[in-house]
Amino acid sequence: MPVPVILDCDPGHDDALAILLAAASPALDLLAITTCGGNQTVEKCTLNARRVCSVAGITDVPIARGAEGPLMRSLHIGEYVHGVSGLDGPEWGDPTVPESEESAHALIVRLLRESLEPVVLIPTGPLTNIALVLASHPELKPKIREIVLMGGSTERGNDTPYAEFNIRVDPEAADIVFRSGVPVTMCGLNVTHQALATPDVLDRLRALGTRMGDLCVELLTFFSASYLKTWGFTSPPVHDPVAVARVIDPSLVEVIPAPVSIETQGRYTAGATCVDLHHLTGEPDNALVAMRLDTPRFWDLLIGAIASYA
Ligand code: BDR
Ligand code: CA
Repeated sequence: MPVPVILDCDPGHDDALAILLAAASPALDLLAITTCGGNQTVEKCTLNARRVCSVAGITDVPIARGAEGPLMRSLHIGEYVHGVSGLDGPEWGDPTVPESEESAHALIVRLLRESLEPVVLIPTGPLTNIALVLASHPELKPKIREIVLMGGSTERGNDTPYAEFNIRVDPEAADIVFRSGVPVTMCGLNVTHQALATPDVLDRLRALGTRMGDLCVELLTFFSASYLKTWGFTSPPVHDPVAVARVIDPSLVEVIPAPVSIETQGRYTAGATCVDLHHLTGEPDNALVAMRLDTPRFWDLLIGAIASYA
């Protein structure tokens, strides 16, 4: 039976690939795509989710708009990585798939209530929507099988020296999620930096000879330039599909249990994920922390998914 999932995202180049992977996988039943402000404003991220689904022909998955910005802070966007549109690179026509009339919050709550089996939430943006659901409807926690998120790091950050972008945008929301008692798997930079879109990956996408293969090359070419300019990466890390891949096939991503706390106060470190790998604090484990990606099998999975589109 496919696992029911909700993808909560802020597309975003790597979020776009996460959408393609989640919608194509026979192992998943993608119930909804929900959006929040992050890589760009929520308005642009929602438009981008609709653009991706329109070109891919994903017409049966509702797309609902979520939080405009973080719980307690103003929104800091990732325009320096994803461009003015949030999905710069390809030429996008007008989207044909609509935006849901329900808000992300209302849709997630309804789907959790209605689902006969617990749902996996896959957040690949700031955790604002998820925190709002947990805080407003704690009775629905048993309906969430797991939260498998892209965010954080066991090492240093990318948006600030110590904080990864998704957690740093809304640390208070991340704090609610990690303290919620719901099982959390954290796919942070330490593992997503093992998913580099190398020239060989781009060649494989080009060799598909499809419109979607070419579109992914255009997305990754823009993304590559951002990563070279800001961080000196010669190949960009494709973060968000790693969280989706972990749900599709847990054997692709090795995890270890650990206590994880979110820094919400630090003058220089707000949004840092303090991962107690050696159990020095005596705090109980509250997350599975992704450590190692089976990179060849990950690319086979993602490129295989992209190959399934025209
Ligand atoms: C995360 O931040 C965004 O730029 C990406 O979409 C990814 O979710 C990486 O830090
Ligand atoms: Ca993202």
